[in-house]
Amino acid sequence: MGRADTHLHTHFSGFNQLGNAMKFPESVITPETQLDQMRRLGYQVLAITDHDEIAGAFQGEKYARKFGDIDLIVGEEVTTLDGEIIGLFLTEKVPRGLSVEETVDIIRSQGGIVIAPHPFSFHVPGLQEKILALDIDGFETVNGGHPDYYSNMFARKVMDAYPGRWADLAGSDAHSVYTAGTCWTEFEGNSADDFRDSILKRKTRGCGKAADPFTQVQWSMEVVIGGQKLLMDKLRNRLEIAEGDQLAQKIDRISRLMAGTGIIAGSAYLFPPITCLATALSLLYLRRGSKRMTAKMDERLERIGRIIEGIDSGVPYDDGEKMFQVRNKRIEKAAKKLDG
Ligand SMILES: [Fe+2]
Repeated sequence: MGRADTHLHTHFSGFNQLGNAMKFPESVITPETQLDQMRRLGYQVLAITDHDEIAGAFQGEKYARKFGDIDLIVGEEVTTLDGEIIGLFLTEKVPRGLSVEETVDIIRSQGGIVIAPHPFSFHVPGLQEKILALDIDGFETVNGGHPDYYSNMFARKVMDAYPGRWADLAGSDAHSVYTAGTCWTEFEGNSADDFRDSILKRKTRGCGKAADPFTQVQWSMEVVIGGQKLLMDKLRNRLEIAEGDQLAQKIDRISRLMAGTGIIAGSAYLFPPITCLATALSLLYLRRGSKRMTAKMDERLERIGRIIEGIDSGVPYDDGEKMFQVRNKRIEKAAKKLDG
C-alpha cells in the first residue's frame, strides 16, 4: 500500500485575510522543505496544491525528480465563486474567480483529477452540497486543518453512505512542516500513476486525523517569523523574488515604513499571552460551530439522500428557493472577497 498526501501548501500560496485590514502569508516554507519533510515521514506520492498558483508545484516536481522514491503531482487549490476545489495532474494554472462548474471544465480539459477539499467545513470555503451533482472524482474525508469535531466526521458519514460513488481521500492541507503527517490516503501501488488509477477505481482510503490545534499555533509562529525575515530582507534590499511567488512580490510592493511596522506588529504577536489567547478563542469558536452543526446533522444527511436520489433518478430534488438563496449569498460574499 502506498501513502499519498494530495493537499500541501508552500509560500507560493500567497496571502490570507483576517477581517478587512489584516493580511498574513498562508505559508512561508519552500516546496523543497515541504518535500523533504514528507519524504522523511514515508509518503510516496505528494501533490503541491497552492492557492491559485502552480509555480511552486513545478518547482517541487523538479526537486522530487532528484530522488527515486517520491512522485510529485502538480496541483492547485482554486478559489471559485462556490468554494475551493483542487485540480491534480495539471499542466497549466487554472484561473480563480470562476464558477465551480467552469473551473471543473478547465481542470478536465487538462486531463486533471478533481477533488473537493474540506467539503463540509463551516469555517473555510467548502463546496457543501454542491459536490453532490458536480463532476468530481473524490473528496476529503480527512482534512488535516480541521480539528473541529464536525467537518471531517460529517464528510466520512456522507462518503460511507454511498460506497464507490467517490474516491475517499485525506489531505493534510499543511501550510507548515508542523501540520503535516497526521493523515494520508492509502492506495494500491506506489507511484502517481498507481494513485490516479486507484482514484478512478474508487479504491483509495482516507486515513488518520486532523493536526493538533497546538501545531496550528506553531504554524502561525512560523509564518510570523518567516514573514519578519522577508520584511528584514526587504529593508536590506536583499529580497529574492521567484516567478509566481506572490508572497515575495507583495512584500516587494509595500513601503519601507509598512515593512518596519510589520516587524513590530509581528514581534507583538509572538508574545506568549497573545498566541495562547488566539488559540483559546479559535478552539472555542470551533467547538461552538461543531455543536451547532452536529445538532442539524441527521436532517442534513436526509436532505443529501433526497438530492442524490434526485440526481440518480433524473428528477431533481426541489427544496423550493432555499438552496438557491444560500448559494447566491455565498457567491455574493466570495465575489466581494475576490474583488477586494
Ligand atoms: Fe488548502
